[in-house]
Amino acid sequence: MKSVKEICIEGFEKNFVEKPDFYSYAPGRVNLIGEHTDYNGGFVLPCAIQFGTCMVARLNGTDKIRCLALDMENDFDEFEISRNIVKNDQKLWANYLRGVVYQFCERFEGKIRGLDIAIKGNVPKGSGLSSSASLEVCLGTLLKGAFNLEISPMDIALIGQKAEAYIGMKCGIMDQAISANGTADHAVRIDCKSYELTSVKVPEDALILIINSNVKHQLVGSEYNDRRESCEKAARVIGVPLLRDATMEMLEKVKPQLDDETFRRAKHVISENERVLLASEAFENGDLKTLSKLMYESHVSMRDDFEIVVTQTDTIVNLVKEALNADYAPARQTGGGFGGCVVAVVNSEDAKIVGQTVMARYHELTGLNAEIFVTRACAGAHFEKV
Ligand code: GLA
Repeated sequence: MKSVKEICIEGFEKNFVEKPDFYSYAPGRVNLIGEHTDYNGGFVLPCAIQFGTCMVARLNGTDKIRCLALDMENDFDEFEISRNIVKNDQKLWANYLRGVVYQFCERFEGKIRGLDIAIKGNVPKGSGLSSSASLEVCLGTLLKGAFNLEISPMDIALIGQKAEAYIGMKCGIMDQAISANGTADHAVRIDCKSYELTSVKVPEDALILIINSNVKHQLVGSEYNDRRESCEKAARVIGVPLLRDATMEMLEKVKPQLDDETFRRAKHVISENERVLLASEAFENGDLKTLSKLMYESHVSMRDDFEIVVTQTDTIVNLVKEALNADYAPARQTGGGFGGCVVAVVNSEDAKIVGQTVMARYHELTGLNAEIFVTRACAGAHFEKV
């Protein structure tokens, strides 16, 4: 079978009738724990996965970026390199790229030149595994490499985050940060206030399962930004800059001043932050039992307090619990919410039982088909000359 890179090179040669000079790749991610904590300055524990976005490119001698999306029936977009790149109302995918180039032009004026780019990815779209972050980081890594720019992986991630804001999604830094900074065989705990990164080794006997509910999530919308506003409101009432700086006691004190919904959303974030710290310690020590309890608590908190869990992902988590005949499922809905995937951390024996149970029962309960992958924890983005 041909690799994504080979397909991308072939697609480039066929359409641009030249050979590409540059290659870049950036992975998607799965978040083990720490949901909606990033934009609150808190902690997250994701790892980069073996699905990602690949680009191959060549200087085209113009002042235009020309992009070909091989996965989207060769859809094409071109735009001038400038500090005033406007959005393309017809093509959402292209706006992620426009947003990244626009940020690079602001920071590296005069250094970005025309490129022809072919793009191919294999992150399942709408699965909550960050296909858009991998697209942004892949392009940032390509621009850095092609034009020898002085920029760190974390700054590329920050540019990706700004590209999302340009489109209307006020996301946090997690997805882009892990895509740029992933470490092979490790999850990475990210302090989203200081941007400090701590690698946490995946225990020998642990498998990371991704179970796709096939309920497509679409985050560029009001639900995400609405949750963010609630968190900001709670922080204001508590009197801290970010919910990261608040404790449960501080939240309890202002309970009478908050509506129930805002209170529960803040409760999720504050408790989730604590769970991430405990979970990374448990993960480091190979204590899958404690990890399991924390993952399940995270899921319940997202479901009952933060209200971002759909019935289908909840069904999967319950099936995992049932399969293992346990009090807690080592599983939770992962990512922004409203569908997408469930992540589970299990040993190989349990992985088999979980796989069989989900495959046997999910369709019957929901009418949908689940897909299950085992992922390695992968390295972050890279660039090379072809
Ligand atoms: C999306 C956002 C991230 C993060 C998660 C929820 O993936 O892009 O910044 O907020 O949702 O944890």
